[in-house]
Amino acid sequence: MQFSLIIPAAGSGTRLGKDVPKPYLVIAGKSILAHTLNRFLKIDSLNQIIVVTSDDYLKETSNILKAEVGRLPFHVVKGGNERQESVQNALNVVSGESDLIAVHDAVRPFVSKTTIENCLNRASLRRNDGAIVAVPSRDTIKKIDLDSMISHTPKRDEMWLAQTPQIFKKKVLMEAYRFAALNGVAGTDDASLVERIGGVVEIVEGDIQNFKITYPLDLQLAEMILSKK
Ligand code: C5P
Repeated sequence: MQFSLIIPAAGSGTRLGKDVPKPYLVIAGKSILAHTLNRFLKIDSLNQIIVVTSDDYLKETSNILKAEVGRLPFHVVKGGNERQESVQNALNVVSGESDLIAVHDAVRPFVSKTTIENCLNRASLRRNDGAIVAVPSRDTIKKIDLDSMISHTPKRDEMWLAQTPQIFKKKVLMEAYRFAALNGVAGTDDASLVERIGGVVEIVEGDIQNFKITYPLDLQLAEMILSKK
């Protein structure tokens, strides 16, 4: 099955406290976005690449794609205020030839080839609408109310932390985003929108190295990992 890859890279990076948005920070000679792209360029069934970014970074993103991507078609699309809006904009240019759509955060440059392949294989099965990579929660998760009081403690062994890639049958993801837009549904990941239309989504166990570069400590860790290579 062929797949289109959507990389949302339009975040502002305020939690990192830098002027340059996270995907464009350079580590070991390449932008984080380029490191992330390279993880997927090793996968044979990749058909098309769509990177979503802010107005100010459209040109730079095209340059990164030209330098990194060989024969594959790619698009650079303008993002929105929320990640969901950014992915929505990318869906408009997905190729008719793709069977699956993979969404992967620009700021997860350490996803392994095995993880991508496991998720693709699982998402290709007829028994589901898609598959996402996740890891079991190491910490106990607390649900809190508005006064920061704990209202519920779910069992830890049932709690998983969602990562990306999140890969879906094309038709289902399109339908989920259409439904969300029409009904004002907001989700912080793609699977939650598919779940909302009753879709069946499987978990594929990933690893903690596929972390999302979010805080300054994450950036230091990323620099350590990449400089060792
Ligand atoms: O903000 P968060 O950590 O969820 O961002 C995950 C990914 O989504 C990042 O790669 C970020 O650049 C992207 N994003 C986006 N459009 C937004 C917000 C985040 O493409 N409006």
